[in-house]
Amino acid sequence: MKQLSPSLRSRADLEILRAVAPELESIIGADVLALGFTKNSEGSISFNGSKKLLNSIQSYFEINLVDEVSFFSPSAKAGELFEIPVLHDQSDIERLYLVGLGDETLTSYRAAGAAIGRKVRGKAIEVISLCADSSSQIKAHGVSALLGAYVWNLKTEKAAEIPSIVIASKDDETVRKASVIAEALYTARDLIHTPSNIKNPQWMADEAKKIADEKGLAIKVLSGKELAPFGGLRAVGNSSPNPGPRFIELSYLPRLRASAAAALPHIVIVGKGITFDTGGVSLKRPYEFMSAMKSDMAGAAAALATISALPALKPLVRVTVLMMCAENALSGTAQRPSDVITQYGGTTVEIINTDAEGRLVLADGLAYAVENLDPDYLIDIATLTGSATLGLGRQHAAIYSRDDKLAQQFVALGESSGERVWQMPLIDDYADSLESDIADLNHAADKGDYSAGSVTAALYLEHFVGDSRWVHLDIAGTGRSETDSGENVKGGTGFGVRLFLDWIVSLS
Ligand code: BES
Ligand code: MN
Ligand code: ZN
Repeated sequence: MKQLSPSLRSRADLEILRAVAPELESIIGADVLALGFTKNSEGSISFNGSKKLLNSIQSYFEINLVDEVSFFSPSAKAGELFEIPVLHDQSDIERLYLVGLGDETLTSYRAAGAAIGRKVRGKAIEVISLCADSSSQIKAHGVSALLGAYVWNLKTEKAAEIPSIVIASKDDETVRKASVIAEALYTARDLIHTPSNIKNPQWMADEAKKIADEKGLAIKVLSGKELAPFGGLRAVGNSSPNPGPRFIELSYLPRLRASAAAALPHIVIVGKGITFDTGGVSLKRPYEFMSAMKSDMAGAAAALATISALPALKPLVRVTVLMMCAENALSGTAQRPSDVITQYGGTTVEIINTDAEGRLVLADGLAYAVENLDPDYLIDIATLTGSATLGLGRQHAAIYSRDDKLAQQFVALGESSGERVWQMPLIDDYADSLESDIADLNHAADKGDYSAGSVTAALYLEHFVGDSRWVHLDIAGTGRSETDSGENVKGGTGFGVRLFLDWIVSLS
């Protein structure tokens, strides 16, 4: 039986999702079979999958599936799950999960997957799901099953056991890709769940290095004096001088001739990597909000997890990830409201509220990308503003871009990937909120009273993107879940990973 290690366990377990042939002989070795059903407008119930296999399951266990599920008067809503005992002396299978597939949209296949995953969470059970047929269903369902089964803790007494989740399908390649995506999501979640006494910027660099070595990605880490041009990262990160901030750059290149690789589109993803956000001298209020701030590196985690999956998915694009890692601590070396700092590239900025630290570290990353990396697409992802959560809640991230077509591509991929985004406007009328009497900009949009914190934060970032095709994702609401439900546990969600991977694959 495999044991959970507390952190980054997923990497020991490649192919965390497997496929088996959808045939009776191949599936009777499992502990549980999960079967999906739907109910039509007349109320009649039917089960998904090949009639032949369903019939052989029914005769093998001497049951009638429709009768069994009808006993519960099911609504058949997605994720509704009934457990029934079955017996055959040649099989280990002791029960079936009968799972509602709702309206059979991808959202429903995800809900059904999450319900199965939650059911086996922490148990050494092998469950084979027969719910999904097409490749998009398999991907949605399989990834969500893994997410539903996710656990993270540092309990000493009893390590949770790991279920084995298997998809009955001949489409090994789709299942393999889903496994890669799920593994990346686990990586992001593990990073986000790790508490901040362990997770400082150097730890982030160490984890990135481990991933880079394992997956064959190039990595560069800058610290100390090497960070001289990164005035935003230093201003925030020097509040915690030991070990101080880190700039982490990873890159993925397909295995092609150098000239062919150089011709591919170049995507740069900049992630906010605040390993803990106290607010600094402008201490975060109310204080209850602070305990969630170990998740303030969820953007950097999503970026790292995304690039970690690329060597296995092999898209024909170039991708560079910049993780802007710093702790926003309250200390004698913390920056003060009224300081003036210099961002990468020379823009001077009057510090108003030290709790608006995310935009300072991101701006350095964006300016660095424009100056050094010649991006075709410049993306940033950050748990940036509480306002984004106020506006959109926790199911949609805010997306900003001047390129409406690109933003709408993300909106569509958000629907299909399960990580939904909503396009918000870059309102030019609010630009003067960022003026300062003593510097080029004030970072907190202190002038005027526009009450549009997520919008003005985006406008601040836009000053650093040059004429790049830029997309900004504010994941303050979606990066962390406050409830243990559906695909999520309380804590990091890994939001961004599915969206980015689908988008990157769509470009190649
Ligand atoms: N990390 C926070 C934003 C945040 C809030 C993320 C809640 C997730 C949940 C960010 O650094 C912050 O403190 N933003 C301030 C900005 C303000 C001071 C201009 C905010 O949103 O209140
Ligand atoms: Mn803050
Ligand atoms: Zn923050």
